[in-house]
Amino acid sequence: MPVPPSAPLPAPSGAAFLREFLRDPLRTASLLPSSRSLAAAATGPVPGTGEPVVVELGPGTGAFTGVIAERLGGRGHHVAVELNPRLAAVLEHTHPGLDVAVADATTLPALLAERGLGRVDVVVSGLPWAAYPTTGRTLPEVIAGSLRPDGVFTQFGYTCTRVLPPAHRLRRQLDAAFGEVAGGPTVWANLPPAFVLTARRPRHR
Ligand SMILES: C[S@@+](CC[C@H](N)C(=O)[O-])C[C@H]1O[C@@H](n2cnc3c(N)ncnc32)[C@H](O)[C@@H]1O
Repeated sequence: MPVPPSAPLPAPSGAAFLREFLRDPLRTASLLPSSRSLAAAATGPVPGTGEPVVVELGPGTGAFTGVIAERLGGRGHHVAVELNPRLAAVLEHTHPGLDVAVADATTLPALLAERGLGRVDVVVSGLPWAAYPTTGRTLPEVIAGSLRPDGVFTQFGYTCTRVLPPAHRLRRQLDAAFGEVAGGPTVWANLPPAFVLTARRPRHR
């Protein structure tokens, strides 16, 4: 979504995030962008060599985006899928050249097809768990179907919500869609403290 040159500069990421949280708390799901430590944990599987295709779901104001871009160093292709057009506009200002799709994460296969991209190497998700549909094809199934056989998916969650029913539902969906799912340690240097789920060996149905 190109931003016209006359458009006002978007608010700094913390302010933009808070404003969007107040507008739509369920979809934004956080008062603050993630920390650099959490970004490092979530983006760990982004390959340091080659020309990987990396998809970022729910980039918000770009807490993970910058770290992915640093890891890629201009290699490969980085697609950021953000539902909120105002946050997408912030990303387009702060990351010129980034391939930003203003779309729902569940439309990932169509977004990849539009770009002529096949299966991708890594999907990094900053999505709130509320973005995971509870009926029909699950988002982990959609993501697994979009990954190469050796592809990796990461999703962060807040440690304080780890025991809640949505966390168990997501874990069941991940276990059904991937051959290997591991929960990482708590990243205390994040507000609130968080952890990263890493899923490998996508099942292609
Ligand atoms: C918790 S924030 C995470 C933002 C950023 N990754 C971070 O860690 O700071 C969730 C983001 O996901 C976006 N989002 C929510 N539902 C979505 C969906 N169905 N598809 C794409 N993005 C979505 C929200 O607009 C918001 O930017």
